[in-house]
Amino acid sequence: MKKHDIVYLTEDASHDAAIEIINEEAFGPGRFVRAAARIREQGPHDRSLSFICTDDGEAIASVRMTPVMAGPVRGHLLGPLAVRPSHKNRGIGRELVRIAVEAARRKGSEAVILVGDPSYYQPLGFEKVHYGALEFPGPVDPARVLVVPMAADVHARLSGVICWRDDSVAPVPGQAVEARAEGAAA
Ligand SMILES: CC(C)(COP(=O)(O)OP(=O)(O)OC[C@H]1O[C@@H](n2cnc3c(N)ncnc32)[C@H](O)[C@@H]1OP(=O)(O)O)[C@@H](O)C(=O)NCCC(=O)NCCS
Repeated sequence: MKKHDIVYLTEDASHDAAIEIINEEAFGPGRFVRAAARIREQGPHDRSLSFICTDDGEAIASVRMTPVMAGPVRGHLLGPLAVRPSHKNRGIGRELVRIAVEAARRKGSEAVILVGDPSYYQPLGFEKVHYGALEFPGPVDPARVLVVPMAADVHARLSGVICWRDDSVAPVPGQAVEARAEGAAA
């Protein structure tokens, strides 16, 4: 019997070709027209929050995370998530989701959002977004729009357009507090 050596790694550019093959196999050419893919076309994903799984050195699964604004919420869009057929049903998909969500939480993300099957993602901490609250750049089934809320009032604030966000310029928390204090004094 073949020995498995399963390892989870942060994605880097050397993994791009293997990830392309994994996603092509899982989703086919139709993957580029999906609403979530159209957000991902707007700008790069965040490699520091994107992960692969290797078996004996070969990439066999991938999850990517893209910074987004979802209305006023500074979050991340999870996906694509794909596991090669040879490695399905061993908990690898669930583990990649868990790792990516925890990495986003540590980075201060307010929410991890995705379009996917509730029966797969709800046991992993995802909740349904209010019906039709987010406007995607293409049609989505509102029942499949899910979120892990990681800040106060996320469900109440998740409303409006969801689009790629440039997080190369980090917010300066001190400045935001000052601005709020000035407003409060006025
Ligand atoms: C969906 C996918 C990522 C799951 O990865 P995986 O490593 O096989 O999943 P896990 O081992 O973590 O979990 C397996 C469980 O999820 C269930 N499951 C798999 N796909 C599911 C789906 N689309 N909806 C609901 N449950 C699903 C399995 O039946 C299994 O259930 P069990 O534990 O009760 O037996 C993988 O099947 C895949 O790559 N599919 C094609 C691409 C895709 O659909 N990606 C998700 C886009 S939303």
